[in-house]
Amino acid sequence: MDLLKRKITDEGVIVSDDVLKLDALLNHQVDPQLTMEMGKEFASLFREEGVTKVVTVESSGIAVAFATAYELGVPLVFARRKKTLLADADSLSERVPSFTKGIVTDIIISRQFLSKEDRVLFIDDIIANGDAARGLIKIVERSGASLVGVGVVVEKCFQNGASSIREQGIRLESLAKITSLANGKITFADERA
Ligand code: G4P
Ligand code: NA
Ligand code: NA
Repeated sequence: MDLLKRKITDEGVIVSDDVLKLDALLNHQVDPQLTMEMGKEFASLFREEGVTKVVTVESSGIAVAFATAYELGVPLVFARRKKTLLADADSLSERVPSFTKGIVTDIIISRQFLSKEDRVLFIDDIIANGDAARGLIKIVERSGASLVGVGVVVEKCFQNGASSIREQGIRLESLAKITSLANGKITFADERA
């Protein structure tokens, strides 16, 4: 998506060779027009898959996951994050480390909102090492639902989250692929260096 890549180039802030701050469009402020366009893109990529539910993890995935669910005409379920978890038979949880925050949290979805009949599309904002994504994928598997694929806004190709998920045989689509943040420059996958 050219509009997205332009916005990333204009408003992204390189924090280090590993981390790109995207507060202006994903992690603090949301551009409703751009977000709805991203939802349309994900909906068209996965339209033939018979999606019955979109899932994400709170908080930054919610806006684009909502836009996707709206376009597909299905509910959105967002996994909650909790610091400590009381064992609960009514919900599914996985413990995940966070790349940016350096903490461990539990992500949780109530069994009530995922069933064996569901065909689930997982949408997220950024994929780095993929710990949160792998945790959510495990929750979907344990619910008995079918995962039809994963859609992420920004794929950081120099970290192994996206490739490790594709290696599991899961379809993963991203709207912007960043291959490098080195030398103070954001390089996208389809650009010549
Ligand atoms: P993930 O790849 O499955 O997201 O897991 P990972 O453990 O690699 O990343 C954990 C968190 O760090 C995620 O946010 C992810 O979006 C964020 N993150 C990773 N790399 C970057 C980056 O370069 N820039 C920014 N802005 N965020 C990055 P989260 O814990 O899900 O938090 P939230 O944003 O939903 O609150
Ligand atoms: Na995030
Ligand atoms: Na996220």
